[in-house]
Formats: sequence, structure tokens, C-alpha cells
Amino acid sequence: MEKHPKKERTFVIIKPDGVQRSLVGEIIGRIERTGLKITAMKFLVPKEEQCWTHYNKDDKWFLEKGTKIAKQREERGLKLEKEPIEYGRDIIGQLVKFMTSGPVLAMVIEGNQAVGVVTKLVGGTEPLSSDVGTIRGDLTLDSYDLAGLDERAVRNLIHCSDQPSEAEREIKIWFDESEIVKYRSLQEAILYDVNLDGILE
Ligand code: PPS
Repeated sequence: MEKHPKKERTFVIIKPDGVQRSLVGEIIGRIERTGLKITAMKFLVPKEEQCWTHYNKDDKWFLEKGTKIAKQREERGLKLEKEPIEYGRDIIGQLVKFMTSGPVLAMVIEGNQAVGVVTKLVGGTEPLSSDVGTIRGDLTLDSYDLAGLDERAVRNLIHCSDQPSEAEREIKIWFDESEIVKYRSLQEAILYDVNLDGILE
């Protein structure tokens, strides 16, 4: 049987900068306020291998991102020190270094269109250009340019899955299915139930 849309799951990590800047409560609060339900949560220092598995990018992605970086370097008059694809690989290398630098909070979030709702709340990958009102747009200020100049990962507070299938793949990397709690949140009645008898006395 197909899963009911209200059971859609997404995967979220509050990254080391979110934890260090004491934004855990603020970020969880923004997610909770939508009506989405937390079904698992883990505070941990990620392992390097776990992060490489999580960010499983292919050569096409490395080349696409790396070519953009190489172009930006040329425009700035900076020397190309390696093949464009290597600049793309560096993005994930720097990201893994960042993700393993300290504790993060990993979560599984469930509810109608969980992936889309969380993506909307989080905003675009680059904080500088993410919309006002989003987590990245409101709470931080990093840019690809600045991060690239210093050869470090973009500090964008949070990661979220961009597709339901990707969410299921990512959840398996960070959680055992037995760590995910199946329960009914009382507010689900007013969010989803057809029959609302029993409210009036
Ligand atoms: S994309 O554009 O949707 O394919 O990229 P995405 O899957 O979101 O990217 C994966 C992580 O790579 C980081 N990223 C970058 N860092 C520096 N410069 C550039 N241009 C860049 N593009 C992507 C970004 O932090 C993504 O990680 P998360 O954890 O999702 O933010």
C-alpha cells in the first residue's frame, strides 16, 4: 500500500555552526511551528565516512560546480591550480571537514510534504542569497564567494533533504529504523482528520 502523504519523512541536520551559535532551539521551533512532527533526534559528532556517504555526489556534479568555481577564479585573475573537477571535489572535502568539526543535531521530521515544507523554511543553499524569512536568510550571512576565497565549506546552519527518495536514503545513514518513533501527535487531529466531532462540549 502506498504511504499516506501525511507520513512523508525528511532528514535534517543542524550543522556545527547552528549548534555553536545556540540556534538549535530557534531552528527546531521554526520546524515545529509548521505542524511537522519530530520522530527521531540524535546529537552526535559525525564520522568522516558517514559524511562522504551522505554527500554522495558524482563526477557530473563535481564538474558542474568545479567549472563555475574555475570560471570565478579566472574572472578574479586567480591562477587555476588544478582541473575544474577537482574544485568540485574540494567542495565536499571541505564540507566533510566542517561537518566532523563538532557536534550536530540529526533529526527525522514527518508530515504532509515534509520535504517541501522544510526546504521552503530552510531557504537556498547560499545564505547571502536565501530569502528573508528563511532559516538561512534570517540567521546567517555566509556566501560562496567568501567560503571559496578561504577554501572552506559554506556555513549555512542546516542541511535538509531535497527529495523524498533522497530523504529515505539519508535517514538510513544516520538512524537505525528502530530509533525512529512511530506515534500520533495530538495536533494531527486538527491538521488532518476529517471528523472533528468531540471538540465542542
Ligand atoms: S545542488 O546545487 O542542489 O546540486 O547542491 P546540493 O546538493 O545542495 O549541495 C551539496 C552540498 O554542497 C554545498 N555546496 C556548495 N558549497 C560551496 N560552493 C558551492 N557552489 C556549493 N554548492 C553546493 C552545500 O553546502 C550543500 O550541502 P548542504 O548540507 O545541503 O547545504
